[in-house]
Amino acid sequence: MSKVSALWNLHFQLLFLALVLLCSLDGVFSRSTSSFVRSGFSSVDIPLDNKVFAVPKGYNAPQQVHITQGDYDGKAVIISWVTSEEPGSSKVFYGDIKGTYDKSAEGKTTNYTYYKYRSGYIHHCVVDGLEYEKKYYYKIGTGDSSREFWFQTPPKIGPDVPYIFGIIGDLGQTYNSLSTFKHYLQSGAQSVLYLGDLSYADRYEHMDGERWDSWGRLVERSAAYQPWIWSTGNHEIEYAPHLGEFSTFKQYLHRYTTPYMASKSSSPLWYAIRRGPAHIIVLSSYSPFVKYTPQWLWLRDELKQVDREKTPWLIITMHVPLYNSNSAHYMEGESMRAVFESWFVQYKVDLVFAGHVHAYERSYRISNINYNITSGSRYPVPDKSAPVYLTVGDGGNQEGMAGSYLDPQPDYSAFREASYGHSTLELKNRTHAFYRWNRNDDGEQTPVDHVVFHNQYWANNRRRRRLRKHHASLDNMRYIQTY
Ligand SMILES: *[C@@H]1O[C@H](CO)[C@@H](O)[C@H](O)[C@H]1NC(C)=O
Ligand SMILES: *[C@@H]1O[C@H](CO)[C@@H](O)[C@H](O)[C@H]1NC(C)=O
Ligand SMILES: *[C@@H]1O[C@H](CO)[C@@H](O)[C@H](O)[C@H]1NC(C)=O
Ligand SMILES: [Fe+2]
Repeated sequence: MSKVSALWNLHFQLLFLALVLLCSLDGVFSRSTSSFVRSGFSSVDIPLDNKVFAVPKGYNAPQQVHITQGDYDGKAVIISWVTSEEPGSSKVFYGDIKGTYDKSAEGKTTNYTYYKYRSGYIHHCVVDGLEYEKKYYYKIGTGDSSREFWFQTPPKIGPDVPYIFGIIGDLGQTYNSLSTFKHYLQSGAQSVLYLGDLSYADRYEHMDGERWDSWGRLVERSAAYQPWIWSTGNHEIEYAPHLGEFSTFKQYLHRYTTPYMASKSSSPLWYAIRRGPAHIIVLSSYSPFVKYTPQWLWLRDELKQVDREKTPWLIITMHVPLYNSNSAHYMEGESMRAVFESWFVQYKVDLVFAGHVHAYERSYRISNINYNITSGSRYPVPDKSAPVYLTVGDGGNQEGMAGSYLDPQPDYSAFREASYGHSTLELKNRTHAFYRWNRNDDGEQTPVDHVVFHNQYWANNRRRRRLRKHHASLDNMRYIQTY
């Protein structure tokens, strides 16, 4: 070897070493735990006589009105409400001109008892055959007590139709919940991905159904106008043998419906919908999910249905986070991670949203699929095919803040903060999504965590990337680009 080439060799080795050092330093320094100290309200439920829970005026007036998507692709909605004096009518009158309701649909009524609580009459009505991207007005109830609302149908499924989802978890009904909810109302989002744990009614001694009713009235000012895409948490289980209540999810299942049959699911607790540019898969953390169970079989088949050419954004919601470095609920998601994580990587899932932990956290793209009980590789490693895991369980319920994090912050954790808030996910086109997490104390102008997500199917594929090379530069400098 000549002197010159030996020198070059050394030069390259040094350069390489410097690069490795830089990269690892970058990894260390970019993790962050926010030191923000929130000045929140105490975590008590708002009294039932507060105006946010006001019962609408009039005999048997519909209350707790909420809508959700009613089919696979967004041309139907399910409209639900409660009447308290008598069953009344389950009919929805609707049309695309305000005040002119030229069409109608007939729904169904149900009621239940839970221990000593007796529910009102709960109505669910599917309105289908709607047109895309259209504003519809609807009227429910009869006579002087009837009420009118509206909703907007989503654009037709397609790779480049923009759409904004809001993300809320573990809301409850405290003053902190109200603050989160009011911030959400200003967000401009078009539909809510709800991450489980709704009313926290089960915190009351006899699992008070009245707190289910008050929660329904609280969220009506959003949920009557835009679909909330539900998933369930531990507070919906309400298994209470000491009260003679042996079934699970009883109150939730009477009150909230999902279009599960449209995705060939056998349970309303796990299902999928497609909306605009997104394929949303809702999983149930508290239903069997190990190999050969109905949820496992269903998810295996649903993932095969995903068509990233039509719906580039593959998003999964569940209650218990698979990656969480908060001391609260630490490792509770391990069992599901062991079962589903390899699929999430195989199918290049973009984002996995969870709640449960009453704080905020965002992960890097990491996986731990090499770990098994005989391998020595125990730690999550960077993985370009892995989803980003986001915990948005910070709605502000009665149980308070999960303020204690594992220290030091693990490598997989990119950002975490113990504050209440909500997120928005603005899907711009097939390659770009603007994501923000907003803590309650700030206005919408100063999102605390903001990231541009690049689509896992369209943006990270070299062949596809060549096609959109001229779009390579990012113009919006307000956003930190990490993926
Ligand atoms: C449902 O409502 C009907 C009519 O008021 C009542 O007779 C019945 O007992 C209720 N069922 C339950 C399970 O509460
Ligand atoms: C588990 O890990 C061992 C050791 O790395 C490897 O040989 C084996 O194939 C792995 N098993 C499975 C099922 O992945
Ligand atoms: C997608 O959206 C991003 C962000 O707005 C933009 O920079 C990019 O040019 C868009 N790509 C296409 C193909 O329109
Ligand atoms: Fe929970």
